Amino acid sequence: MSAFRDRYGPWALIAGAAEGLGAAFAHEAARRGLDLLLADLQTDKLAAVARSVETACGVRTRCATVDLGAVDTWERLQPLLHDAAPGLLIYNAGRSYVGPFLSQPWEDQRLQLEVNCRGPLRLVHKLAPELVARGRGGIVLLSSMTGLTGHALVACYGATKAFNLVLAEALWAELHDRGVDVLAVCPGPTRTPGYEASKSRLPPGFVMEPAHVAREALDALGRGPVLVPGAANRATAAVLSRALPRGAATKAMSRLMRAIYRR
Ligand SMILES: NC(=O)c1ccc[n+]([C@@H]2O[C@H](COP(=O)([O-])OP(=O)(O)OC[C@H]3O[C@@H](n4cnc5c(N)ncnc54)[C@H](OP(=O)(O)O)[C@@H]3O)[C@@H](O)[C@H]2O)c1
Repeated sequence: MSAFRDRYGPWALIAGAAEGLGAAFAHEAARRGLDLLLADLQTDKLAAVARSVETACGVRTRCATVDLGAVDTWERLQPLLHDAAPGLLIYNAGRSYVGPFLSQPWEDQRLQLEVNCRGPLRLVHKLAPELVARGRGGIVLLSSMTGLTGHALVACYGATKAFNLVLAEALWAELHDRGVDVLAVCPGPTRTPGYEASKSRLPPGFVMEPAHVAREALDALGRGPVLVPGAANRATAAVLSRALPRGAATKAMSRLMRAIYRR
């Protein structure tokens, strides 16, 4: 795994690392030899992730309690970053709300916009020039299968995930000849605290484990702009984006969402 550390190390910044997919990314990056800069709102859970990867992988970690949706996120991250320039950014933090658009308070929509869009844009804007100057590094942005086409009940969330998908694809096109690998990861349903809280009725066999998603994602870094983790999800994504007209894809996924989230 030292080739991975040479290309993306020594430090990875994982934004939103206290649990779920972020914690899985922390373990996977550490397993590949990277030292970790970990940020999240949840101080105690973040410290537990740090202890666990240090014990399992013998890497160095540093933690910061930071609101990644705040206007001054970059400034708040400075205690973490002042003498440790990350070679890999994984922006994982995300807010999601499931329900009809017309019932969703503006405050919920604003939070999704700030954490899911402004947060990654700000960090990429600050870090990408350093990676380009070094001629190596990586950026992983968390999109979602809900970002591939419109899905009823997650209009705002899905739109924020489409933002990450398109941003990552465009950055991939601009940066891959300059030594920087960019990847949009579009998970389907994945067993995390956030997903469990959404009370989905999807049968457990359709839900991926976070460790599996993180492993596939870091394997895919440098191989193309977009990953849909899991063979079944990839087959669904291929139907949605290539076989069906866009309106039909949106209707099909909206029917599925209404069935999964029937209260
Ligand atoms: N799980 C899925 O099925 C699925 C599918 C597709 C895409 N994704 C994407 O994958 C990413 C991770 O999802 P997940 O299911 O692992 O989420 P999760 O279980 O809710 O964990 C997200 C982590 O990010 C933290 N976070 C949220 N807002 C933050 C903020 N403003 N500042 C700092 N930390 C913040 C959360 O802390 P709090 O608990 O305090 O909020 C939590 O520790 C998200 O971008 C999500 O959109 C997930």
